[in-house]
Amino acid sequence: MKGFTLWFTGLSGAGKSTLAEKIEEELLDRGMKVELLDGDEVRTNLSKGLGFSKEDRDTNIRRIGYVANLLSRNGCVSITAAISPYASIRNEMREKCTNFVEVYCECSLDELERRDVKGLYKKARAGLIKNFTGIDDPYEAPENPEVTVDSEKQSEEESLDTILAYLESAGLIPAGADGKAYSAEQEKDSVSRLKEKGYI
Ligand code: ADX
Repeated sequence: MKGFTLWFTGLSGAGKSTLAEKIEEELLDRGMKVELLDGDEVRTNLSKGLGFSKEDRDTNIRRIGYVANLLSRNGCVSITAAISPYASIRNEMREKCTNFVEVYCECSLDELERRDVKGLYKKARAGLIKNFTGIDDPYEAPENPEVTVDSEKQSEEESLDTILAYLESAGLIPAGADGKAYSAEQEKDSVSRLKEKGYI
């Protein structure tokens, strides 16, 4: 089985972690070896003590890329979910990591500030957090990502399908049953329906 790195990028709250977790689940269901390197989790372990200056963010991303490549070159799928705001470092990781797939999680700043799940945008606007990405720190959107998803225009399900369809078409993952992935729940449903009808 081919290893690859699925590299999510996007502003805080754009859906990187949520989608990364769902994709992880789906690929595990399909029998693949998967590791998720989530931004917040990495910052409490591998990158503990790093801040949000450009230098620290670059160090954070290089560490994530280093681990992602160790995994993907050994046949594992690594999924990363950090803002990774700087295009040049992302491109450096693209060169380094085996089968790099960049997923841009798009969402307007207006919508992110409306959602403000962690309450951080409000704090950044109030000047309580400095150098907050999208407010007073840059985010460089990818110019040519393999996949773009948009949590304002698409449902979570649609975004997942977009990513899985890309991975299938690139030959990085096997197709789900009938070319469509079934969840454990759906499978249980269909088994009980078949039993009801006496087919099995
Ligand atoms: S990255 O820039 O180095 O890729 P990373 O994804 O690890 O960032 O961390 C981003 C998370 O840290 C955000 O989702 C948010 O919860 C938190 N955070 C705290 N301070 C900042 C800041 N100044 N800019 C962006 N995110 C911040």
